[in-house]
Amino acid sequence: MNRSRLTIDLGAIRSNAGRLLQAANGAGLMAVVKANGYGHGAVPVAREAIAAGASYLGMAQLAEALAVTHELGRDRAGARVLAWIYPPDADFGEAIRQGIELGASDVAALDSIAQAARALGLTAKVHLKLDSGLGRAGAPRDRWEKLVRRALTLAGEGVVATTGVWSHFAYADQPGHPTIAAQASAFADGLALAEGLGARFEVRHLANSAALLTGLPVSYDLVRPGLALYGLSPIPEVAGSAELGLRPAMTFESFLSLVKTVPAGQGLSYGHAYITKAQTVTGLVPLGYADGVPRSASNAGPVRVGARNLRIAGRVCMDQFVLDLGPDAADRVGDRVVVFGSGDDGAPTAQDWAQAAGTISYEITTRLPAHLERVYVN
Ligand SMILES: Cc1ncc(COP(=O)(O)O)c(C=O)c1O
Repeated sequence: MNRSRLTIDLGAIRSNAGRLLQAANGAGLMAVVKANGYGHGAVPVAREAIAAGASYLGMAQLAEALAVTHELGRDRAGARVLAWIYPPDADFGEAIRQGIELGASDVAALDSIAQAARALGLTAKVHLKLDSGLGRAGAPRDRWEKLVRRALTLAGEGVVATTGVWSHFAYADQPGHPTIAAQASAFADGLALAEGLGARFEVRHLANSAALLTGLPVSYDLVRPGLALYGLSPIPEVAGSAELGLRPAMTFESFLSLVKTVPAGQGLSYGHAYITKAQTVTGLVPLGYADGVPRSASNAGPVRVGARNLRIAGRVCMDQFVLDLGPDAADRVGDRVVVFGSGDDGAPTAQDWAQAAGTISYEITTRLPAHLERVYVN
């Protein structure tokens, strides 16, 4: 029966992980599965990525990392986990017990982590983050030495291990942007400074999907792609998924819940932002912005019904949108509507939706809510 659901092709996830490992050229793979695996489901994606050779899972929120680690259980299979966003009073003790490694951008965070480790008599594994120019997380260059020195003192006490060192690009999706070389060089300098002070790191990591797939020589010990694991291009203006050897893993589909004939001059949906030119057949699709369909894609979002690609007619509502199926439409209630998929069958892709909604494909998949049924195949 046709219904609204997300189908996730786990074979595509495996294939993409393999492609990323090949591009990593000997470096390990940290599969970034934050934000519920970019909407695909963090646990099933993590399982596939680990089976395909990922040695690390990366998640922003510590709470999500704890939940995913717990749910994976034995399927974690020795994979290491890094989390980097947490409140000041986070349960670092539980994270340390579970062997979750923690990103640290400042001395205060490092001290809180160390305090929890001290109380447990354990060593917390930390990844020191340098702000090499993104201007987001990480220690700025003038506070980097202080952070490294504090980590070394705590390492001397045995409560912290300087497991990783890392940073993140601002413009990796714009090949040739001058900040890329500047950030790569700032990271190399920060690393040299830390090593000069006596720090030794197991894993140095900098490359996201775009850095990896544009061939920047910054793979170090570990690469940290997210978007490409799901088969979407991080550089859509330069190369699409297929050109990058990636397969989009998610298909979002629904059905026609009502089909009816309306006269010429009929406004469709709120605000009558679409007015029929002639008598036509409309189809109602039971998906709206509460289901992750961006309202900004009103009159623009592409869908496939049968063998036709159409655009939403009028505004996207909270739970529904309307299609103008045309005067001779033979479509029936229950017929399948593909919102986006791999693109192989001519249906729109998440990237097409990003374009229609004025956003990036990251936002299209991560905004899909938990209530949508997710079906895993392959
Ligand atoms: C710190 C960090 N590393 C890696 C990634 C993965 O980036 P991408 O999905 O562009 O590969 C992200 C995602 O935003 C991130 O915030």
